Amino acid sequence: MDHFNYRGGSLHAEDVPLTEIVRAVGTPVYVYSTATLERHYRVFEAALDGMPHLICYAMKANSNLAVLKVMARLGAGMDVVSGGEYRRAKAAGVPGGKIVFSGVGKTREEMQLALQGGIRQFNVESLPELEALSAVANSMSMVAPVTIRVNPDVDAKTHAKISTGKSENKFGIPIAQARSAYAAAAALPGLEVVGIDVHIGSQLTDLAPYESAFFKVADLTGVLRADGHDIRRLDLGGGLGIPYRRANDVPPLPFDYGEVVQRTVGHLGCEIEIEPGRLIAGNAGILVARVIYVKEGAGRRFVILDAAMNDLVRPAMYDAWHDIVPLTEPAPGIEMADVDIVGPVCETGDTFARGRAMPPLAADDLVAFRSAGAYGAVMASEYNSRPLIPEVLVSGDQFAVVRARPDYDEMLNRDTIPAWLE
Ligand code: LLP
Repeated sequence: MDHFNYRGGSLHAEDVPLTEIVRAVGTPVYVYSTATLERHYRVFEAALDGMPHLICYAMKANSNLAVLKVMARLGAGMDVVSGGEYRRAKAAGVPGGKIVFSGVGKTREEMQLALQGGIRQFNVESLPELEALSAVANSMSMVAPVTIRVNPDVDAKTHAKISTGKSENKFGIPIAQARSAYAAAAALPGLEVVGIDVHIGSQLTDLAPYESAFFKVADLTGVLRADGHDIRRLDLGGGLGIPYRRANDVPPLPFDYGEVVQRTVGHLGCEIEIEPGRLIAGNAGILVARVIYVKEGAGRRFVILDAAMNDLVRPAMYDAWHDIVPLTEPAPGIEMADVDIVGPVCETGDTFARGRAMPPLAADDLVAFRSAGAYGAVMASEYNSRPLIPEVLVSGDQFAVVRARPDYDEMLNRDTIPAWLE
């Protein structure tokens, strides 16, 4: 459920008509709803109620500082994967003790940064990383709290580019090698084993892969405890899917996910950590765009928008579906026609939807891409020298620009001409 609804025939973000935001900020623009962000966080809180837990928002989904501030004020922890994300978490006021550091390629500088600023744990993904972290922590006379990310070899049944829990993926340590990896961690100076980490993929629409992964983690907890390791935290990753296609998709509810967590690992007395990104931010954001032209091709009608694949890459990259709706509510029973919805970028991949049934659209009409709050703005680029688009946060009847549209000089001034070309 989100807070983007038609009122009086016009799409609103909470209590703000989107046309008002467009008038103030122009298009394309990302718009986020505070109430939706808060609601999704609370849904997870309720799902894990009764188990000691920490929700570490995976900010890779949407790391705008204002969004992070909304999360931080609710008491969320953060899952970060780079020094930049770590700095964002701190800038949003998240204490180091609530930040977990994930990722296969943490550099020594990033380890140092996190140890200095405070960290809940490093989710370590390889033996060389364990050794590097041990060396860094030792050189700082500090002890780094670690979990090891195990790869449980389960099929998350999601898009290949966002599946992470199969043995052929680059992530984690094969679960069969976990005992020796934990023995290595325990033997290295400057490390303290605190738990186990697992993350099997993103946009999961079935709970069964979670269930089998979590059962494997439960077994491993017993084995590692018998080996003498103090396994007191289980980081179960993120990945719960959202309904991109409202008419068809019925992904599992966080409550049912919570029930799986309880049933598989609830009895172990561990603190549970989860790292949801998409489910928190996805349906809390939309991308508003304007129709530039409607072009009649050979047997196809193209609706050309001012937003492009550089602004929202998911359709081009993952063949992702986003519901696209006009800002003016279509009259009931209006005749729909199949159109291709595309952006202005010079490649065929810049196609948002093919043969999509849409109400009549004309130049200057405004449309919204739903479910664009996660992996939207954060994955944007300036391809075709299109400046990054602004982001707006709505709360009730207020809205604020939380990232301004850069002007062209800002973009051009980042490049420099070497002296020999002057
Ligand atoms: N934890 C780890 C270790 C992750 O790698 C990810 C996502 C998450 C948590 C959060 O997963 P979520 O709850 O958001 O599914 N750009 C792609 C998604 C990439 C996901 C990468 N890792 C997309 O647009 O579909």
